[in-house]
Amino acid sequence: MTQDELKQLVGKAAVDFIEDGMTVGLGTGSTVKYMVDALGEKVKKQGINIVGVSTSKRTAEQATALGIEIKDVDEVDHIDLTIDGADQIDKNFQGIKGGGAAHLWEKIVAINSNKNMWIVDESKMADELGSFPLPLEVIPYGSKQLFKRLEAKGYHPEFRMANGKHVLTDSDNFVIDLHMGHISEPQELAKDLDSMTGIVEHGLFLDLVNTVIVGREGGPQILKA
Ligand code: A5P
Repeated sequence: MTQDELKQLVGKAAVDFIEDGMTVGLGTGSTVKYMVDALGEKVKKQGINIVGVSTSKRTAEQATALGIEIKDVDEVDHIDLTIDGADQIDKNFQGIKGGGAAHLWEKIVAINSNKNMWIVDESKMADELGSFPLPLEVIPYGSKQLFKRLEAKGYHPEFRMANGKHVLTDSDNFVIDLHMGHISEPQELAKDLDSMTGIVEHGLFLDLVNTVIVGREGGPQILKA
């Protein structure tokens, strides 16, 4: 199976966990896109009532076009389950997210959810985090100074650019990716990044996930954190 087929597999498998009446957090990315397609089909075929809380403008547009009702995170009183992708997951179920520049909204939705599920193809599973660059969402004002501080700490920062321009998040912030190679102490790193003025949010998602569905050749594997 190709990576894309594995993403589709887990996207479809995740929809089985969505039941009538649920408020569901909808993540962002190519894997979630398959899940939202499958959810749209389920809503149409089974006529179930679902409220979606989106983690990005992209996902909100897709879901709305498929007839899934979308509410703002501040309009709902709870979120039963959030289903999202991830860029890397280590053996302790700690994750890196933000490859699609959506990790700020994703983390806000995740921490306000009763349960969190990640859906990934098997290439995302790793012993240790860090081979995937760690995304930071940063305030544009003073971001060059922040960049220098990150460099001085040996975090190997790089502004995320597209066509010579800064990539902008849904909150109009910049993204800096840290090319650290490996992250042996994710909790310590998270604390340090949390303390740095100008960083709105980093892509370390620690102790947040309850269930991971991994797309493997033999079928979807469900792991409980
Ligand atoms: C969005 O910013 C990310 O956190 C995505 O959830 C993550 O990059 C996974 O994306 P794919 O499903 O496209 O690999």
